[in-house]
Amino acid sequence: MRVSHYINNPGNVIADNYTTKVLHGSNSLLFHQTLPGYKPTPLVALPALAAKYGVGQIYVKDESHRFGLNAFKSLGAVYAIHRLLEEDPGLQTFCTATDGNHGKAVAWGATLFGKRSVVYVPRDTTQNRMKAIETQGAVVEKVNGNYDDACAHAENMCVKHGWQLVQDMAWEGYEKIPADIVAGYMSLFAEMENTIHTLPRASVDMVFMQAGVGSFAAAGVFYYLRRYGLQRPAIIIVEPWEADAVFASFNHGGITTSPGNASTIMAGLNCGTPSLGAWELLKNGTDVALKIDDEYARRAVRELYYPGNDDQRITSGESGAAGLAGFLAIMDQQGPEEVRNMLGIDQHTRVLFISTEGDTDKEVFDEIIRTT
Ligand SMILES: Cc1ncc(COP(=O)(O)O)c(C=O)c1O
Repeated sequence: MRVSHYINNPGNVIADNYTTKVLHGSNSLLFHQTLPGYKPTPLVALPALAAKYGVGQIYVKDESHRFGLNAFKSLGAVYAIHRLLEEDPGLQTFCTATDGNHGKAVAWGATLFGKRSVVYVPRDTTQNRMKAIETQGAVVEKVNGNYDDACAHAENMCVKHGWQLVQDMAWEGYEKIPADIVAGYMSLFAEMENTIHTLPRASVDMVFMQAGVGSFAAAGVFYYLRRYGLQRPAIIIVEPWEADAVFASFNHGGITTSPGNASTIMAGLNCGTPSLGAWELLKNGTDVALKIDDEYARRAVRELYYPGNDDQRITSGESGAAGLAGFLAIMDQQGPEEVRNMLGIDQHTRVLFISTEGDTDKEVFDEIIRTT
């Protein structure tokens, strides 16, 4: 099984740019707390799993409980839609491209405010994922291409019909909405403030965060850099082998597109190019970037679903378990010793994963847990 790593030398500063200005000025948690059904998602300790891998403690924040939507993504979309409607309450139709969870989140957010949504999905999106988006009230259409093609199509359709694009990916000239989405994701980290993150130091040593376009991980980097500076936990970014947008960009020395073939079971992470709004943050706050084979994701899903001893079961999908999958890849005997040494992983290390989704595609999930 393949794992490849990039060791970064982060500047540990928050660059001054459009996205970071928005993030400094936001408090999305205050907004989320006003929404129906809001409650913080559980933070679960897994001591048996920690013992199995010889570390001090493992924590998993379980986003499958987020607003009953089975993934963290609603945090970003609903906050961005709220900010747009503050400026222009007359907006009627919100549109996006998605590989699943973000589209469901936009549909849910639009419906919450009594608005319409149109969602475009890439060619190989499963029927189950399309249905899940439709259930939240969106019109869903397939585009004959990959994720990047779907994004371009959504943008064209917005221009043509006067719809509002709500994309979780920023590029030159389209930065406001993605920045609000990153701000929305920050609620997830802020929720841990009274539990795992106690002053004056983050009470975890390392955080593994999975990346698609990198907006989610950028929210984590911003949170940890602002709150803890050089005392922050180590940050490890995990991506699929064939969709390594961030990893490829680290190797390239700037934003570039993955050379991979975009085939992975980690559907939420199947993105070719990092978001412009995420890149500077990732560059300045990532310690290690990993790209891994799908098989590690399968193993991680099973580790969480079949816990040892008294550990709690966590239902975590292929992208949801990707952070743990990165950890498993590092801890593999054939895994990168250089990374283990550099991170100083030992019996005292406390590790945090964010299970960003539950079983968002039941068929795929069931197939994984049936295989042992
Ligand atoms: C379950 C899940 N986890 C993680 C991510 C990664 O988020 P981002 O694309 O902001 O890097 C996604 C993106 O869709 C996702 O659906």
